[in-house]
Amino acid sequence: MKKKVLGLAAVVVLAGLAFPVLNLVLPQDNRGRILGGQSFEYMGLRQDYFAKRGSVQEADHGLFNFTKKDCDRHKFKVPTLRNVALTWPYLRDGTVNELGEAVRVTARFQSDVALASAEVESIASFLESLTGELGGKPLK
Ligand code: HEM
Repeated sequence: MKKKVLGLAAVVVLAGLAFPVLNLVLPQDNRGRILGGQSFEYMGLRQDYFAKRGSVQEADHGLFNFTKKDCDRHKFKVPTLRNVALTWPYLRDGTVNELGEAVRVTARFQSDVALASAEVESIASFLESLTGELGGKPLK
C-alpha cells in the first residue's frame, strides 16, 4: 500500500514538471497552451513591413510608445493563435481580412519565406483547427 502511494506521488510530481519543461524547449513564440499572446516581438523581423506598407503613424511604433526605448520600436504583442480564424481583421493595423493572406504576409515579413499557395492553405487549415467551443457549441 505504502509503495502504491509513493508511486502515485511520483507520477503526480513528474506530470507537474513535464509542462514547464516542455514550455522551456518550445520556441518562445509558440509557448503555452494559448499558442502565443505571451511576448512582444518585432513586426518586420526579416523584411521592413512599415517601409513596404507606408504612411507610418504614431501607433505603428507599438511598445516604444509606452517604454520610449528604441529597441521597442515596432514591437507588438504576439496575438494568440487560438480561435484566430474568427478574429479578423488581422495584424495590429487591421490591414488583412483573410487568414491565408495573414499567413503569407507573416511568413514573408517575419521569416523571409515566400510560401507557395498550397503551403499557405495547409497552414491556414491548421490554424482553422484551433477554433474552440463555448458551452459545448463550436464558436462562430
Ligand atoms: C510561418 C510562421 C508564422 C505564422 C504562420 C504566423 C502566424 C501569424 C498570424 C496568423 C498572425 C495574425 C494574427 C492576428 O492578427 O490576430 C500573426 C501575427 C504576428 N506574429 Fe506571427 N506567425 C509566424 C511567425 C512569426 C514569427 C517568427 C514572429 C516573430 C518572432 C511572429 C510574430 C508575430 C507578431 C508580432 C504578430 C503581430 C503583428 C501585428 O499585429 O501587426 N510571427 N502571426
